[in-house]
Formats: sequence, structure tokens, C-alpha cells
Amino acid sequence: MDLRVKPGPVEQEPADVLVLTHFEGEPALDDEAAVVDRRLNGAVRDLLKSREFQGTANQTVLLHTQGKLPAKRVLLVGLGKRKEAKLDAVRQAFGTAVKRIRQAGATTFVAPVPGRAAFVDASKVDLTQAMAEGAMLGGYQFTAYRTNGDDLKPLQRMTVIAPDGDARTSVTEGLRRGRASAEAAMYVRDLCNHPANVMTPSRIALEAKKLAKEHHVRVKILEQRDAEKLGMGAFLGVARGSHEPPKFIILEYRGQEAGARNGRGARPIVLVGKTITFDTGGISLKPAENMEQMKADMTGGAEVLATIRAASRLRLPLHVVGILPATENMPGGRAIKPGDILTTLSGLTVEVQNTDAEGRLILADGLNYATRFKPSAVIDVATLTGACMVALGQFAIGMFGNHDGLKARIQRAGLKTGERVWEMPLWEEYFEQLKSDVADMRNIGGRAGGMITAALFLSKFVGDCPWVHLDIASTDWSERERPYVSKGPTGIGTRLLLQYLIDESLESRGSRAR
Ligand code: BES
Ligand code: MN
Ligand code: ZN
Repeated sequence: MDLRVKPGPVEQEPADVLVLTHFEGEPALDDEAAVVDRRLNGAVRDLLKSREFQGTANQTVLLHTQGKLPAKRVLLVGLGKRKEAKLDAVRQAFGTAVKRIRQAGATTFVAPVPGRAAFVDASKVDLTQAMAEGAMLGGYQFTAYRTNGDDLKPLQRMTVIAPDGDARTSVTEGLRRGRASAEAAMYVRDLCNHPANVMTPSRIALEAKKLAKEHHVRVKILEQRDAEKLGMGAFLGVARGSHEPPKFIILEYRGQEAGARNGRGARPIVLVGKTITFDTGGISLKPAENMEQMKADMTGGAEVLATIRAASRLRLPLHVVGILPATENMPGGRAIKPGDILTTLSGLTVEVQNTDAEGRLILADGLNYATRFKPSAVIDVATLTGACMVALGQFAIGMFGNHDGLKARIQRAGLKTGERVWEMPLWEEYFEQLKSDVADMRNIGGRAGGMITAALFLSKFVGDCPWVHLDIASTDWSERERPYVSKGPTGIGTRLLLQYLIDESLESRGSRAR
């Protein structure tokens, strides 16, 4: 989709649809809406008066302009109550808008920046970023395997009206960031939507190699024999049951701005993503119901890949490393068995009591490898536990960490992106549940606090690096279509990681262009 900025005025802009947002229950119209209303002989006011349109969150009304405006239609979209509205209301409104626009068979739309005064802590950059994200993500479809072309036409253009030069600079930057973050999330959705017979560890490695064509990105793939030499016993243990060769993928992005706090040569931020391309459970086999969703058990890795690609495209002045231990978890003849003991890359030994707790095994080696970069921060993202789904449901990412500052930054990025995190305890008391009679620890901790014991397991492999763990099991997959979240793989976590990097880069540059 083409994203444009124009000086307006909005009522003179030709397009298939002119989109106006409105807060719930307010009789007064925004300046732009008031002008449009006058041109339409009071049609917008009439709808408000008759309460046919009230502005409740994601409510829409579509009007034909019958030649009274250069735009063929006006679409009213509700933002909900002003008091409760967050930046996410804008994202949702534009996600809803593009769905309605496409239903009408239209392909271009124009919109002013919504409810400016109302979003007190959001800048114009943030608002337009949210518009672009909503519009792009709301139109997402995965059609790679459909042979009948009955899908709706994709949108071609969104034009945002910014009257003065200053606003134009902000809107342009907002759209640039919005495009990058939406494209990253959609790339993740694509990777997760592809079935596991296509999206194998080798295919993920190929996707990583494509990244080497981006600016300042280097890619290194460790093959099985390389991993053996290094002693990645936990990663290789999980891979044993599969015929697909495992790939341990390392990406490195070096933003070029010299002198930046996190520029060339500085301690990197390392992102580690769980990359299980299919999780059968291994010998501790999963039940058949919903097992197909385990093709998305590589979401964490996909998010790391997409985030680094976006960081490079935005030319963020940062040094970022991505680590993707990629393998299937299969119950083959050479698969690990309950009771097997693995020696991890760190030297710690693990008794595998359940082969379905494989994510923490591959991450143990991924995290230990991460510490070798002497990182300023390590963030891992993983579809790690069903217990996360039980504890937090659809709307919160489980967050753990050993560093208050890093946790606070991730939390802030979560609020901004609408991909919110909720902190869980990482108390040592829980380690009792991970004790083994025969090894340094075991890989399961029983039913109680399952998300916590998994995180505590990971904590034993990060040394004293500042570290945050994000459990995205359950937020990674949606049972239903939402305004800008697709049914199936959601890519949730990607915009969060990217926003964290954007915020870091702004800080390292000083207070420029917030
Ligand atoms: N990939 C799963 C976790 C998961 C479950 C993600 C459902 C998304 C939806 C993970 O590898 C797993 O199987 N975890 C086990 C751990 C248990 C054996 C300790 C679980 O949560 O059941
Ligand atoms: Mn599993
Ligand atoms: Zn898994």
C-alpha cells in the first residue's frame, strides 16, 4: 500500500473514501468533520442526532457523497469514549476502516490525523504510525495456497492530511515507522501461516540468508556438525527426533552511525527467538486436537528475523544480534526419551523428563550463546508454555526479567504498541520444582506455576546479563479476527520488539525527533 502525505484541505482531496474518526457520545465535530458535514448538508450531524452513529469503538457508517465532495464516500469510524481512548483506538479504527473500505470494493482513502488534542501523551509521529499500522495490518490476508482468486482487492493508497510543514515532517516519519513495523508483523504472520512442510529449519535459514542483502546485516548459519563441535547438547537433543537438519542461525545488524551509544562496536542488544518449526511434543507426544497450530511454534524466531530486518530498513543506529535455534520437535527413532540427560552449551546438565518441554532446551543453548556477545541486553521471545495461556489468556504477554530498567523499557514499548506485557515473578523459591535426582536440573516443574518454572529454567543460562523473557504462547495465535489482528498467527511481539529498538535508538541519539 502506498502511504502519502498531502497538505489538504481534506474536503478537497479526491479518493474512493474519506475517513473521519469520532469519539463516542460527543455532539461536537472536529474541524475537518464540520467542513465535510456542511458540504453534505448536515448528514453527519443528522446521524449523530438520530444516534445511528454514536462513535462507539469500531462502529462504522458509510455515506455516499453524490458529487458534493471529490471523495466518493465518507466513512465514519468510532474511537470509543475520549476518556478511555488509547493510541490503540486509532490502530483499531483504521484496521476496521480498511476492512469496510475493501468490502465496498474501494482501493484508496484519505484521512486527517484523528483526534489530535485527545491523545495527550501521543505525538503526531505516534498517531500516524498507529494509522499506518492499523490500515496495513487490518488488510492482511494469507493467500499463498489459494488457487481460487476470490479474495478482496488489496488497498492501494492511504493519504494522510497534514496542513503545515512541521506536521508534514512528523507525519512522514510516523508513516515510515508505521510501514516498517506493520511490514515486520505481516512478514511474521506469513512465516507462521506457511505450513511446517514448507517452513522447515532449512527454509528459515534461507529466509535469514535473504536478510544478508539488507543494509549492514550479516548472517551465519551453524550446521549440525558446527553445533556438535561447540557442544550444543540441548539444541541437538531436541533435533535428534527429526529428519530435517537443524540450523542454528545468527544474524548481526550493525547500524552505521558512529558515536551513537549503541553504534558500531558497542555492546549489542541480543534477541533470541524460539524456532521450533513444528512441535509434536516428541516422544511425550501431544494430543491431536489443535496440533496443527504448532506450526507457529517458530513465532519467536520469526519475530527476531523480522525485527532485525525492520531495524535495518529504518537504519536504526544500533548494534543488534539475532539468534534462532531452529529445529523440529519430532518423535523419530533417534529421538530423546524421558529420562535422557543432555549437557547444554553452558556445561549445565538437564534431565529431560518431558520431551514436550523442548523450547527451554533449545533456548538454554541460544541464551548461553547470546551471553558470548557481552550484550547490553538479552531479550528472548518464545511460544513457551500452555501455562501462559491459562494464566494470562489472549491479551497479555508474560514478562520475566532480572533487570528493572530493561523491564520498564519493554513495558513502555508494550503500552505504546498495544502489545502489552504483564510481569510475572522470577523467584528462586520455585527452583525447588526443577531439581533433579540425577542432573543439575530437570526440564519440567510440574503443573503449579508452569510459566514461572519455564522462565526460571531459562534464567540459569543468561549469566549476569540484563535479560527479559517474553512468553507469547496464546498471544501468538488468535481464535478470531479482530480490527487489526488476523485470525490464526498474529505476529504479536514483533511491533513490541521493534518499538523497543526505535526507543533505544532515539535515546542514543539524544532527544531528537521523538
Ligand atoms: N510450544 C508449546 C507451548 C504452547 C502450547 C504454545 C500451546 C502455544 C500454544 C511448548 O513447547 C510446550 O509444549 N510446553 C509444554 C510444557 C510442559 C510439558 C511442561 C506445555 O505447556 O504443555
Ligand atoms: Mn512442546
Ligand atoms: Zn514448543
